[in-house]
Amino acid sequence: MDINLLKQTAQAMVVGKKGILAADESTKTIQKRLEKIGLESNPQINLAYRQMLFTTPGIEEYISGVILFDETIRQEIDGKSMSEYLSSRGILPGIKVDKGAVDMEGHPGEKITEGLEGLDGRMKEYEKKGAKFAKWRAVITIGQGIPTDDCIAENAKRLAEYAYICQQNNIVPIVEPEVLMDADNTLEVCREVTSRTLKAVFEKLKEKGVVLEGIILKPNMVISGKNCPVQASGEEVAQVTVETLKDTVPAEVPGIVFLSGGQSPDQATENLALINQIPGSPWKLSFSYGRALQDEALTVWSGKEENVEAAQKAFIERAKKVSSPRAS
Ligand code: 13P
Repeated sequence: MDINLLKQTAQAMVVGKKGILAADESTKTIQKRLEKIGLESNPQINLAYRQMLFTTPGIEEYISGVILFDETIRQEIDGKSMSEYLSSRGILPGIKVDKGAVDMEGHPGEKITEGLEGLDGRMKEYEKKGAKFAKWRAVITIGQGIPTDDCIAENAKRLAEYAYICQQNNIVPIVEPEVLMDADNTLEVCREVTSRTLKAVFEKLKEKGVVLEGIILKPNMVISGKNCPVQASGEEVAQVTVETLKDTVPAEVPGIVFLSGGQSPDQATENLALINQIPGSPWKLSFSYGRALQDEALTVWSGKEENVEAAQKAFIERAKKVSSPRAS
């Protein structure tokens, strides 16, 4: 394990105003996204779409790295392997390595993420293919009597094992415990669950001996559930999100990149800007958005070659807005 390399990579992921593009939709998720524009997913269409995003001129000014799906890291752009292409543009290639969240046995309504089996071998292959960082997403659901401590603890344990394996292979782990925003809970409930989850995650990371200077945390913002009748303002979201992180995330962690989690592009942009206006955070606060960065470009593209330029314009405009003013 090369600790200096891990630190360097982690810092490069959140350097300046830059953040990460999450383009690692699984086969099922990319199918869902493409259905919205009337297309059926297959490896060629998936590549055409992602190529439109990745070849956007100037995008490296705002995007430090891209999270890829297994299918994509094996594909090529301009005769170059995907990692070579991205690296030639000054963008770090990353890879989603979890195998998705499944129902947790004996825990109705709760999920557990799979993918530890054979992970070390897969990580070695991805490292050879040029991946510099990885992602593992755990899903925590808010509901009647959930999340349970058992579900949080098991997801945290697996995140720590994944992070340990990444670092052994000189790959920076993005540690993503996502508290979903789909329920009708208040901001306060999201704060309590996010805090409980992050505490458990850092406890397990510490137990496992993961080097915190060589990870990036990818949490949800602390936000009202989508179906909560009272929606907290952006200022409240920013305030409570930063407070919750200060309570739970050690200062050694170099960067925190939020997921958008179903927030609209404008909402995700505005909330991150407000978060960055709050002074005194010890870590870089940035983004690792999927939908909030891609949604507008996807709609403009609509699968048509003649729309590529306009879609790239929509994409870079959003990336520029998201990475805009930073307080620190
Ligand atoms: P969203 O920003 O669309 O939530 O996706 C980010 C991500 O990578 C979730 O794992």
